[in-house]
Amino acid sequence: MSVQHFLTLSDLSGDTLKSIIDNAIHLKQKTGTSTMSMQGKVLGMIFEKSSTRTRVSFEAGMAQLGGHSIFLSPTDTQLGRGEPVEDTARVLSRMVDLIMVRTFAHERIEIFARHASVPVINALTDDYHPCQLLADMQTYKEHRGDIAGKTVAWIGDGNNMCQSYIKAAAQFDFELRIACPDDYRPRANVIKAHSSRISISDNPQQAVKNADLVVTDTWASMGQEAEKAKREKIFAAYQVNHELMAEAANDALFMHCLPAYRGLEVSAELLDDPNYSVVWDEAENRLHAQKALMLHLLDF
Ligand code: CP
Ligand code: NVA
Repeated sequence: MSVQHFLTLSDLSGDTLKSIIDNAIHLKQKTGTSTMSMQGKVLGMIFEKSSTRTRVSFEAGMAQLGGHSIFLSPTDTQLGRGEPVEDTARVLSRMVDLIMVRTFAHERIEIFARHASVPVINALTDDYHPCQLLADMQTYKEHRGDIAGKTVAWIGDGNNMCQSYIKAAAQFDFELRIACPDDYRPRANVIKAHSSRISISDNPQQAVKNADLVVTDTWASMGQEAEKAKREKIFAAYQVNHELMAEAANDALFMHCLPAYRGLEVSAELLDDPNYSVVWDEAENRLHAQKALMLHLLDF
């Protein structure tokens, strides 16, 4: 049987994703009680981009399950000196049980996964961040129940998080309204594949109208640092703040994967307003959701 990877949300069925989230909620309730189900298991963690939440949640999660993790960065592995990803995937697969990769081009993790004989988890590429969506969907469920049939507004850049929300719309059965500048839309093939679930405009007010969940992310993702000033001008009308949230449904939630830039894509007041913002729960849920994901991928 072929190895089950998790490179995008499309790699697992909607039912499987929902059962992972249910288990994440269960594991969260059991926080503090010891489960050693991953004893003797090792997670390799390749980070070609920076991270706070992803690294800590995977490492802490593996430790809480009785397993071990190894942090690998390009500056002190042969990957950074040009050893092919194919060879790295083959070698690590002989030594560890599970591999998590954060990198730039999505094709790089696809190549890696093709040559790995253990499950590979996408911990963010330029195109997708599926682990964050597990945490977001868990957070919505905990606060508001089932997201099926609800309306989600994505405001800002058509980036890796936005594209992950497009896939989530299909898997979790919600309507997604995207508001972004014309030149910053998600990739055409991703839009086309899920066109029945999504609509796109350049109008944030229209997108958030009666929405149940409003989501944004940085205007300049990792790797786009040189474009930061230009993007701040282009995206200036896309800030999510109390005025914009007032257009959403009365009990609408605000989410952001973090790190957030207060005063740019989100106002400081909204990010720190617990009446709307669930960003700290969202961050915490990375831990629980990824524990449930790792358990699923290793058949526990
Ligand atoms: N949201 C998220 O993935 O955060 P990090 O970049 O800190 O891992
Ligand atoms: N879109 C952001 C997400 C960070 C977690 C980035 O790729 O930098």
